[in-house]
Amino acid sequence: MNCPLCGGSGWIIENLNGQRKAVRCRCQFKNSISIFLKSSKIPVRYKNCKFSNFKPKTATQLRALKECEDFFYTFPFIEKGLLLYGTPGTGKTHLATATLKNIITYKGVRGIFCDFRNLLIDIKSTFETSESSTEILETVMRAPLLLLDDVGAERNTDWAKDILSTIINYRYVNSLPTIITTNLRFDLPTEESFSSKFDERTESRIYEMCKIIKVEGDDRRKESCI
Ligand SMILES: Nc1ncnc2c1ncn2[C@@H]1O[C@H](COP(=O)(O)OP(=O)(O)OP(=O)(O)O)[C@@H](O)[C@H]1O
Ligand SMILES: [Mg+2]
Ligand SMILES: [Zn+2]
Repeated sequence: MNCPLCGGSGWIIENLNGQRKAVRCRCQFKNSISIFLKSSKIPVRYKNCKFSNFKPKTATQLRALKECEDFFYTFPFIEKGLLLYGTPGTGKTHLATATLKNIITYKGVRGIFCDFRNLLIDIKSTFETSESSTEILETVMRAPLLLLDDVGAERNTDWAKDILSTIINYRYVNSLPTIITTNLRFDLPTEESFSSKFDERTESRIYEMCKIIKVEGDDRRKESCI
């Protein structure tokens, strides 16, 4: 049966930022979407995060929302990934997850939510079993789209630094899109800055791979208790 959207060709011409681009029609991947969503490992708490229920209260939150929406609309013709940094509860994971979910759902791309601290725990737990840590790491490294959440919240060890450096370097050399969220600062060389915790090589690659976006505001988690 012919698809009413693409007439059966499998392609749709869309106007993206003033340029006509051919994108795959949803009929081409609708069966994969539910499989991709299930394997994306988006945590239950963030399942309902959307652009439409993100209410920006500061200029940087509004800019971050726009950048994430833009990233989604332009994907896969994006030049860089995204790095959202800022204090806790400002909506970084909300926006990053909404972006990931939209790209899986509307662009038919496989994507993975990876909490960096949990990844380290998962890798560590394989040291006591026969499970392969390489397999866990490779799933993350090779994901067509990766959301690396809460980088820097883990204990500061050389081992954690090495794992991050391995992931970032792999994605850098293979030009794979990555969205990162972190509490570590990218604007000032303070004690809480990214450069104080990770090596220069990793930071340098992230600068080239990601658009760095600051997200400021009050902690929404505390607000909801008032
Ligand atoms: N602007 C917003 N509009 C609606 N909900 C929001 C907004 N900002 C945050 N939230 C909600 O507040 C909670 C905390 O947000 P989120 O987890 O995205 O913060 P975060 O910046 O990732 O914090 P952390 O740095 O601690 O990881 C979530 O439930 C999220 O959906
Ligand atoms: Mg977060
Ligand atoms: Zn179609």
